[in-house]
Amino acid sequence: MKTIGILTSGGDSPGMNAAVVSVWRCAKLHGMRVVGFKRGYSGLLALSEDSSAMEELSLETILDIADQRGAYLRTARCEEFLLPEAQHKAAQALTDNDIDALVVIGGDGSFRGAIDLCKLKIPCVVIPGTIDNDLGYTEASLGYDTAVNVCVEAVRSIRATSRSHDRVAVIQVMGRDAGDIAMRTAVATGAEMVVVPEMEWGLTELADRLKGLIKEGNTRSTLIISEHCWHRMKEYDWGKLINDSINKDKKSKKRMVAPGEPMNAERLAEILEILCPGVVARATVVGYTQRGAIPSAFDSVFAFEAGRKAIELLKDGDSNKAIGIRNGRIFDIPIKEALNTPKGFDEILYKLINEL
Ligand code: ADP
Ligand code: F6P
Repeated sequence: MKTIGILTSGGDSPGMNAAVVSVWRCAKLHGMRVVGFKRGYSGLLALSEDSSAMEELSLETILDIADQRGAYLRTARCEEFLLPEAQHKAAQALTDNDIDALVVIGGDGSFRGAIDLCKLKIPCVVIPGTIDNDLGYTEASLGYDTAVNVCVEAVRSIRATSRSHDRVAVIQVMGRDAGDIAMRTAVATGAEMVVVPEMEWGLTELADRLKGLIKEGNTRSTLIISEHCWHRMKEYDWGKLINDSINKDKKSKKRMVAPGEPMNAERLAEILEILCPGVVARATVVGYTQRGAIPSAFDSVFAFEAGRKAIELLKDGDSNKAIGIRNGRIFDIPIKEALNTPKGFDEILYKLINEL
């Protein structure tokens, strides 16, 4: 092994740069050079026409990116890479440029791309990089801890102003189809309600819970919603809701959610105001601040350890492996096995948050 390639793929996540730095440092220790490919798998495909799609990483670059936000190598979702012809083109480009192995940092889609390259005899190791934490085999992926910290900070500030005004806060966090960010944020901030895509939930139950909290004297509760929570929302009598909203406030009708439309924080806040007379609810979407944050210490250390493990594996001739973390320990398993590991969900914790 003389030259290692590296790329970041899928949604960017805090810690990706730190992993690039770690791979470079550990590779250097073993006398290897590292080249970065720009914009995920797109960089491999662009290589034959555009030499700037590849960059040799040097000490100067590494020093600059160690604490840089975002993905220095850029990242992309490259639809074309799903085609076998594109995968062959990428493998050929790697061989033509004397790249002996590739480290891929990304989520499940990026992992699948690495499996395809392994089949074409390009040794690959993958590092989980996604704020969503939607990979079942590992307790954490790069960026997840940072994203949770961003959300916790946001929720604490929002709860402070909610307290001042006796308002309900509806706060939307990212996570795609995984409720991990929402759940962890809810626990860390003491939020009284959480809805996630993993669990069925209903507007009536939510409104009843809110009314119950108010009856107990809590006039400023927080509801954390995971962005795709609407996947498992129970059927609702929208006609009745619209009528209720017309009775309450004619203006709100035009903003009312229609059946089949994705639920979001703003709609939910509006609906809760209708279902729970007297309630004032305000919505916040934490949004991309979750992805553009500086990595937490946990993510930085995880990135360092993952990069180190990636180089150790490749140096020893190992390939087709995914790196993960469990009980604080770094481990590796075949990428396919990583992808086949079901994602667990703590239903008891979910109930506890929503019932306490
Ligand atoms: P993530 O890696 O965060 O899950 P995506 O699902 O968008 O993000 O995947 C990132 C990239 O990985 C895709 O844009 C594509 O280039 C590549 N990819 C995704 N699925 C596959 C697949 N089945 N085979 C090969 N490459 C894939
Ligand atoms: O996968 C990371 C993520 O931020 C998800 O939480 C979110 O659903 C998605 O990416 C947003 O993607 P985009 O950057 O295309 O808006």
